[in-house]
Amino acid sequence: MASKSHKNSTTTTTTATAASTMDVEKIFHMNGGVGQTSYYNNSSLQKKGSDKVKHVTLETIEQVYVSTNPRSLGIADLGCSSGPNTLSNIKEIVETVGKTSRHLLLPEPEFRVYLNDLPTNDFNAIFQALPDFYCDLKKERNHAGPSIYVAAYPGTFYGRIFPDNSLHFIYSSYSLHWLSKVPPGLYDAQGEPINKGSIYITERSPPEVSKAYVDQFNVDFSLFLRLRSEELIVGGKMVLIFLGRETPLHIDRGNSFFWELLTQSFSTLISQGDVEEKKLDSYDVHFYAPSKEDVEEAVKREGSFVLERLEMFEIEKEVGDINGGGMKMSYGRRVAMAVRAIQESMMTHHFGGAIVESLFEEYGRLVDQEMAKQEIQPITFGVVLRKI
Ligand SMILES: C[S@@+](CC[C@H](N)C(=O)[O-])C[C@H]1O[C@@H](n2cnc3c(N)ncnc32)[C@H](O)[C@@H]1O
Repeated sequence: MASKSHKNSTTTTTTATAASTMDVEKIFHMNGGVGQTSYYNNSSLQKKGSDKVKHVTLETIEQVYVSTNPRSLGIADLGCSSGPNTLSNIKEIVETVGKTSRHLLLPEPEFRVYLNDLPTNDFNAIFQALPDFYCDLKKERNHAGPSIYVAAYPGTFYGRIFPDNSLHFIYSSYSLHWLSKVPPGLYDAQGEPINKGSIYITERSPPEVSKAYVDQFNVDFSLFLRLRSEELIVGGKMVLIFLGRETPLHIDRGNSFFWELLTQSFSTLISQGDVEEKKLDSYDVHFYAPSKEDVEEAVKREGSFVLERLEMFEIEKEVGDINGGGMKMSYGRRVAMAVRAIQESMMTHHFGGAIVESLFEEYGRLVDQEMAKQEIQPITFGVVLRKI
């Protein structure tokens, strides 16, 4: 989080920027392990979303494999996290290439699989799941499984991760809406927050707030494209799945509305004296849901990729047991658990851990209350880019 207490404008801007950059990389992580509040047990919404564009992912890897026909296929998952989704996505990609090679009577390539996330990610949980993953791949092929080499590459995807021209295919699901930092433009020259009382773009936010978010997205997304273009071979492709918004308007009944409900949950805690108003004023999420136009323009401006496909979709509301947790819960509670698994590290760092339980209980209640009035679903983008 950016700091507020600076004496002069030069120091303020520099310090605020540096602090927000450093904090995200060092603090932000999904809840690890396999407990009730873990990302492992609260990532079924992301699974549902990536499943909706699975056909696009598998078609794309198939095209890359057929057009490049490499002996050694390099695949990366950026923002892989540590849930069940990580290896299940890779398994399907590997199986698709295997089937295609048999169908076309081509030799099956060896697979180099690179799993990337921030260094704070629970990579150990993935490593521990690897023996079963290898076993499953072999079982389905009568013990003649593919040659597959899995490695972890910790680091931010807003920096270089892989050697030049080493990858054929990049996959990333529900990660790229996370910016590299809280936009520094959310602070004025005196270091005062300009988005007081909100944690993302809301109707109360001054216009400088959406500008600060757009500016940060443009810097980050363009850097991401340039870096990936150095790592991918020509003709290599990326399938990027991330949260977006349906129209150019910043306030929508999708992603921004969910952040607004989280802000309202904070207001309840403030009225109970559990959170200081000033603490909320200085908290903003390092998140941005771009519009289709934001993405199209950024790709065009950067120039290393052709945008082959951009699909927008909603994840239908689901009810029932949470993924692996074996508990019945309302939709609102499920959304609250999913957001908690993602945001708890940042919120605990800023507000302390004592408020987390009551905050997300209130948030789940508000989501259920709003959903009873009308269905609000976040928008997801499925994007395919080819390196030129
Ligand atoms: C919601 S999880 C998605 C995990 C998984 N891909 C899935 O679909 O379930 C988002 C992941 O992106 C990672 N992430 C966010 N910003 C990142 C960055 N700058 N570099 C690398 N990973 C990042 C987070 O640490 C987190 O594990």
